Amino acid sequence: MTKAVEISTRKREVNKAMKGRLLLADDEAIIRKSLQRLLEAEGHEVVTVENGLDALQALREGKFDVLITDINMPGLDGERLMQEVHRLHTDTEVIVITGYGTVDSAVTAIRDGALDYIVKPIEDERIKISIQRSLENRELRSENETLKKTLNFRTNYKNIIGRDPGMRKIFDIIDAVADTRANVLITGESGTGKTMLARAIHFNSNRHQKPFVEVNCGALPENLLESELFGHTKGSFTGAVKDKIGKFQQAHLGSIFLDEISTATPSLQVKLLRVLQDRVLEKVGSNETIEVDVRVILATNTELSAEVKKGNFREDLFYRINVVAIEIPPLRDRSNDIPNLAEFFLEYYNRENGKSLNGIHEDAMARLLAHNWPGNVRELENAIERAVVLTRHDQILPDDLPNVVVEPTTDEIPELDQNDVLPLKQALEGPEKRIIERALKLNKWNRQKTAQMLDVNRTTLFNKMKKYGLLAD
Ligand SMILES: Nc1ncnc2c1ncn2[C@@H]1O[C@H](COP(=O)(O)OP(=O)(O)O)[C@@H](O)[C@H]1O
Ligand SMILES: [Mg+2]
Repeated sequence: MTKAVEISTRKREVNKAMKGRLLLADDEAIIRKSLQRLLEAEGHEVVTVENGLDALQALREGKFDVLITDINMPGLDGERLMQEVHRLHTDTEVIVITGYGTVDSAVTAIRDGALDYIVKPIEDERIKISIQRSLENRELRSENETLKKTLNFRTNYKNIIGRDPGMRKIFDIIDAVADTRANVLITGESGTGKTMLARAIHFNSNRHQKPFVEVNCGALPENLLESELFGHTKGSFTGAVKDKIGKFQQAHLGSIFLDEISTATPSLQVKLLRVLQDRVLEKVGSNETIEVDVRVILATNTELSAEVKKGNFREDLFYRINVVAIEIPPLRDRSNDIPNLAEFFLEYYNRENGKSLNGIHEDAMARLLAHNWPGNVRELENAIERAVVLTRHDQILPDDLPNVVVEPTTDEIPELDQNDVLPLKQALEGPEKRIIERALKLNKWNRQKTAQMLDVNRTTLFNKMKKYGLLAD
């Protein structure tokens, strides 16, 4: 957050005399010439065209900050041109210039999104100021977008809840590696916050003003995924009607987030290895080597090392991507974060829905603590959102929670996999930890009361707390 603010003040000072790339469309040669001379003297780069179609062509081929267009031109007139511009290049500002006869259409143009209109004869100062304003406007708009992204709670590091020691360790790792280019592999069950952490890494890195590109590798069939990631050349396969830039290239100087990486096929794994190792790629159907500077963040909800052992995932690629490994524990193993998360979501969905619920009733909280959250934080977030929307009370009561959360579950003890038969003592540790944790929470971490509730003596309780790492709180 502070980063973004600092940057915006720095920029504003520079704004005093911003220079831009301008496109000027007018059918009168004299106007083109005189404006071009005036604006170039101001330090702008000016391209002139004499009709709407040429303007459109120029806009398709290059990037312009501001389009200055006459209304009455042969062929495509200024009004139609403007509509096209807004369809094509949403970030090019438009200034309309017009003779007295067409002031009405200038007003229409403003309504359609032009920033300003200037009546001929054009005064030098008038157009200079108008262009300055357009450039500042444009800058502000893109700044706002960056800010918006940074402020969004899903990307803002400060808004990631985690007092659990396991989570705090993760934050330390992120702090340490954010500004490096090290590949990061995030492992965790669905809904534990992998996507959120990937964004946090990017937006807290020195690349935060460059693109962050997300690709879900599990969502596309192999051939499409390849061209999605690396791009393709026109005609390289049926349906490749024009050249396409891949996500890696789009993410140049920024970060790419490859979700569900375990689904990558062997041939894709080879290509990934190449880009991770040599920082170069070739588009599908091309021999040209393209260099990219991209920070790669990956996520998987299956244990990738197990896939390596099974022969489904290349070992060399695994070592490449496993440089920094972050394992997000499932929510049931960090239930001390449940109250904070629940309050956080309550506040967020209060705001979203214009509600003002003032808390979560302790019976409801006890339910939240007792549930084992197979859908992890996402499931908790959904439960709170639903409760905020549906409740008729000024607090969240057990009634407002989904049935699965409220009803005592019989599957508290996880079903054992056939391959997964642990020694009994070890198998019971997980449930024992959870029962102790929950009882501690219900008794607000009062050990005497907790020991009574569990019917063990205080020393036993203390020893077990120590064993399960529950003493931190
Ligand atoms: N520690 C956390 N603090 C705040 N919100 C969280 C936290 N962990 C997850 N969330 C939220 O829970 C939802 C699911 O997280 P997400 O990153 O999409 O999970 P995953 O990618 O692992 O499936 C998102 O809305 C995310 O913002
Ligand atoms: Mg995700």
